[in-house]
Parts: sequence; structure tokens; C-alpha cells
Amino acid sequence: MHTPPGMWAARPDARLILVLSSERSGSTLLRVMLGGHSRIVAPQELFLLRYPDFETWRTRKPVAMESLLELFDLLDRPQTESSVTASCRGMSMVDVYKWLFGFLPVQAILLDKTPAYANDPSTLERSAPLMPFYVQLVRHPLGVIDSHVRVKDRERRRRPLPGRVLRPLREAIERLTDGLPAIARKREAKWVTQNLNVQSFLRQVPADQQAKVHFEELVHNPEPVMRALCEAMGIEAEPQMVRPETRQVMNPNLGDPNFHLHGTIDTQPAASWTARYNEAQLRPETLQLMQELGIQSRRSGATSIHAA
Ligand code: A3P
Repeated sequence: MHTPPGMWAARPDARLILVLSSERSGSTLLRVMLGGHSRIVAPQELFLLRYPDFETWRTRKPVAMESLLELFDLLDRPQTESSVTASCRGMSMVDVYKWLFGFLPVQAILLDKTPAYANDPSTLERSAPLMPFYVQLVRHPLGVIDSHVRVKDRERRRRPLPGRVLRPLREAIERLTDGLPAIARKREAKWVTQNLNVQSFLRQVPADQQAKVHFEELVHNPEPVMRALCEAMGIEAEPQMVRPETRQVMNPNLGDPNFHLHGTIDTQPAASWTARYNEAQLRPETLQLMQELGIQSRRSGATSIHAA
């Protein structure tokens, strides 16, 4: 069933928004902003689509039960781990979502943002029967790399002394030989894989079922970006979406561990990487994908949200 652009939310089966991105792309911020809408319920990362059925999810990602229970709390219909397990035993993942939709008030929409969905094309394929609206969130690869390296550095500082001393030394040598330390190069490869997976999956999704958001544009111009995104979905933007509750502490396994450190929507992360990296350090395939995604090089103008 195809609908005119901006009419997705008017469909009777419009129950799910999926935010697809690489980790460290500002996905927690976007989730909280969208969750500010009176029709959108947005718990922490659910990880459901990563697995074919409820049992596999339960065994392989036990921490995500916290997100599922949070969803029921947000709906004011609390459940326990054992009540959920009893209800979902034997269900395929598509049936789990359908079961969840049954708890949503009329017109309410579940938002599921789990960056790990971008790791695997079969995860993305699994979402198709649910007819979701896809929000493709993209961030400059060096922003993602820089953010990842800083998080890992913070973790390293908590480790015993030898690792703390030897690793920076090794990284300094790697920088001299390859332009980027191995940890950054690895994150670059992951950014490419995840964004390629999402990009090629969305090619087969109708234009009225998707929109793209650029992190840099989101933090600089939150109001027009939210307005355009809501318009693409067919819902009316609400003012509280651009005044997100940024002091929420996230479970570090289910979202940005430093989310609560921001007092407001902060423009600084959009360009903080420029102090440490430059685009000449990126591989040609990364630069090519940046161009395809409409991510502007620091040397040219700005991009914005595109209803795809
Ligand atoms: P940095 O580490 O570069 O600051 P994700 O939630 O997808 O893991 O993304 C994490 C990134 O989102 C972090 O990037 C973080 O700063 C940024 N972010 C989180 N809250 C933000 C806010 N209130 N304003 C601007 N950026 C924010």
C-alpha cells in the first residue's frame, strides 16, 4: 500500500518508527526529542529486531529486557520480566511487535532506535512486514570516530597502568604510518558497513516511508529539522520536542552513557572532531559514501533533512 508523502501516520498500520544509524551518531538525542511528542513512546534500545524470535532475544540480549519494561512503564501498564516472558514464549519477533502494538493507545506510535540494527541486512529485512517509518540518522564519520575513540579512552583510563601507557604510544606510531590509529580505522570501517547496509536497504523502501536526518543539522537547527521530519511522517510537530529532557541517565548498554552531561541541545559535538582529525585521513570509500549520503565535507556548505 502506497500513500502520498507525509501521510504515513494516517495509515491504520502506522505503529512503529525505526531510527537507523551507526552508534555515536546522536541517536539517543533524536530518540529523546521524538519521544517528546505526545503520540510517540520511545524507550531505551530494544534490540528486538536483531533476533528472529523472543527466546533468542531473551538469551542473547538479557539487558534489553530493561528497555521493554521501561516501555510498559511509559505506557502506564507495568509488566514484570516473568509476565512478559510468559506472554511472548514461542513468538516470532514480528509477532512480539504485534503483541506490543496491542498495548499502545489509539494513535500512539512506538519508536525503536537501536543502532545495532544497522550491522546486518537480515535485521533490516525483518522489519519490512511491520511497515515502519524509517528515520535514517547520519553523522560525519569523523564525528562518529572521534566520539567512539573518546569513549574508549575514558574506559581505558579506568584500567591498570601498563595499558594506559603503552596504548597511547602504539597509537602515536600508528598515526605516523597510517594517518589514523587502528581503533579509529576500525570504527571507520564499521561506519561504512552500517551506513551502506541502511542505504541499500532503504533503496527498496517507498519514499513515503522514510526520511533522513543529519546530526549536525539537528543540533544546529532543531526546530526546522523536527518540523520537516514530523511532516514527512504525517504528524504535527510539538514544541516540547525541541526542549528535550537532557538530564536523563541512560544505561550505558542501552544508549549514550554521557547523555545526561548535556544541559541542552548542544552544537559543539557537531564539529569537535575538527580539532583532532581531518578528512584527508579517511579512506576513499568513506569519502565516497559521505557524498552519497549528502554529508558535507567541512570544506563546503551545509545539508539538511531530506524526505527521501
Ligand atoms: P560526542 O561523543 O561526539 O559528544 P549516540 O546516542 O548515537 O550514541 O550518540 C552520541 C553522541 O550524541 C555524542 O557525541 C553526544 O555528544 C551526542 N549528544 C548526546 N546528547 C546531546 C545533546 N544534548 N546535544 C548535542 N549532542 C548530543
